[in-house]
Amino acid sequence: MSLTTLFVGLELQSPVIVASGPASHDVNQIGLAEEQRAGAVVLKTACSDKYEHMRYWPRPRYKLLDWDKQIEGRSKMFSLYSYEQGYSGTLTDYWRLIEACKQHATIPIIGSIFADDPKDWERMAINVERSGADAIELDISSPHRPGTSEFKTTFVEAIRSVVNVMKIPVLVKLAPGPELVHQCLTAEECGASAVTLCNRIRGFDVDIESQGPILHGYFAGIGGPWAKYYTFRHVAEAAQAIKIPISGTGGTMSGEDVIKYVLLGATTVQILSVILINGWESIARINKEVEEYLERKGLDSLEQIRGKALEAMTHPDEIIRWSGESKTGPRNVWKDKPEGRRTT
Ligand SMILES: Cc1cc2nc3c(=O)[nH]c(=O)nc-3n(C[C@H](O)[C@H](O)[C@H](O)COP(=O)(O)O)c2cc1C
Repeated sequence: MSLTTLFVGLELQSPVIVASGPASHDVNQIGLAEEQRAGAVVLKTACSDKYEHMRYWPRPRYKLLDWDKQIEGRSKMFSLYSYEQGYSGTLTDYWRLIEACKQHATIPIIGSIFADDPKDWERMAINVERSGADAIELDISSPHRPGTSEFKTTFVEAIRSVVNVMKIPVLVKLAPGPELVHQCLTAEECGASAVTLCNRIRGFDVDIESQGPILHGYFAGIGGPWAKYYTFRHVAEAAQAIKIPISGTGGTMSGEDVIKYVLLGATTVQILSVILINGWESIARINKEVEEYLERKGLDSLEQIRGKALEAMTHPDEIIRWSGESKTGPRNVWKDKPEGRRTT
């Protein structure tokens, strides 16, 4: 039994990857991730020089919301609300960070970039590859991105132009939303090697005493254990539409969550909040929980159950429904209706 996972041509010792963010901003953190047996690390996203202001962060930049709210004294409900934009150094610092990570780490290092002009995307991607990264993730979905969060033509051009100049695999990180399957198909058509689903959403909170916004005074990224449920749905939909692999991200707190992502079709799972809250040991704990599951189910690898839950999914028209008058049990209301399946 093994957690070894083949993802975009890289052999990972675990499907659990450290997601881009404050836990992958420094070369020393890569050693910590490696010690805990992470499969790979996606480095903090570097922004193009046009967005230099995004390299400076407000203080404080995080707030845990609803941490004290318990459901029946058991389940901890919380949201991590944060405003942290790009990697805080220059682009030259970022290329050096990649080089240093590659010198010291044995696990794959995935660079992450953000720009808007396709030429900037391309230039930055070339530097990520030259610095030795094993893959690159295009962060076209940040909740802090200036402007609207539309999947603009520039992003489609960006994916295409980066893919054209890269030898290393290109991951595209997307935002949740009604257009997601279409965006996954577009990323696939443009030659992306994988999609990362999904980035956090943009949220907002206000303080009733001061009657104004909390923290820095503007919208912020928001996520928490609850976020996995909308990402599960997106991963399930995408897995049925695309052939390229999916890296699931959002709300993972346990091995059980990783297994669910895989059952829904993901190949790897990117985690961050659980590390920020419970520490680096979370990676080893999650790995262990997945291993225990494999052992209990008599499985050799997660590959054997990838997408399995999708096979058991029902079409909405086929859902067994109870009619009010039925004395005999559930029936398929559409099929049993004389005029056949309802289409509206
Ligand atoms: C404080 C913070 C900073 C983040 N910064 C980045 C980033 O720079 N680039 C990026 O692609 N995603 C970023 N993310 C999103 C994470 O990579 C991850 O996809 C998301 O938090 C969902 O996973 P989680 O629920 O396990 O935290 C950030 C998330 C947090 C909480």
